[in-house]
Amino acid sequence: MHIDIVSVVPELLESPFRHSILMRAIDKGLVTISIHDLREYGIGNYRQVDDYQFGGGAGMVMMAEPLNKLLEKLTSDQPADAIVYLTPDGESWKQSTANSMSLSKRLILICGHYKGIDQRIRDLWVTHEVSIGDYVLSGGELAAAVLADSIIRLLPGVLNDAGSALSDSFQDNLLAPPVYTRPAEFKGMKVPEVLLSGNFSAIEEWRESEALKRTESRRPDLLKD
Ligand code: ADE
Repeated sequence: MHIDIVSVVPELLESPFRHSILMRAIDKGLVTISIHDLREYGIGNYRQVDDYQFGGGAGMVMMAEPLNKLLEKLTSDQPADAIVYLTPDGESWKQSTANSMSLSKRLILICGHYKGIDQRIRDLWVTHEVSIGDYVLSGGELAAAVLADSIIRLLPGVLNDAGSALSDSFQDNLLAPPVYTRPAEFKGMKVPEVLLSGNFSAIEEWRESEALKRTESRRPDLLKD
């Protein structure tokens, strides 16, 4: 898989891909990531990428031309499976969307700033508009890192234990059950007996029942789907 990320603050994206699972995925050649500085496509000596909004109002808008130029370049040799714009007015990001996007060969993520990008770029180029939650971030970079992380960890070979991603919260519309590791007793609190029993069907049953309990109390909306 190849992911292109378009940003006016590329420095914000330096760290997320340099550590842990994502770095391993890159080192193993399972994913390649290119971060593009939109300012290189900006207009005039000042490399302008934003301007006042027509109709007045506070806040700048990211101009159509620099984005269009960069997107034309990125798609000139190979089309993208999805061009995603990160925006608080997009559709909520879900595990199911991460699952389907993990089957893509090529993704382009566009990080917005200020009041967002000119609507005509959304109309012309963007195939998916995604929000990572009902709050406003200073820009789309952290949201792009969230999307990339949730997609990359699903690629075959990225996680050491291939079954691990399947038992994550949300994979079956359930939150994950509690987990414990050594010691078996900590500050007088004991690990549930069943987990030490070696009885794998009883353990599986306990995990399912705890997952259901947790989902019912914290996220009953998931059980309606
Ligand atoms: N950009 C700013 N806020 C955002 C959000 N909640 N999700 C995605 N992109 C954003």
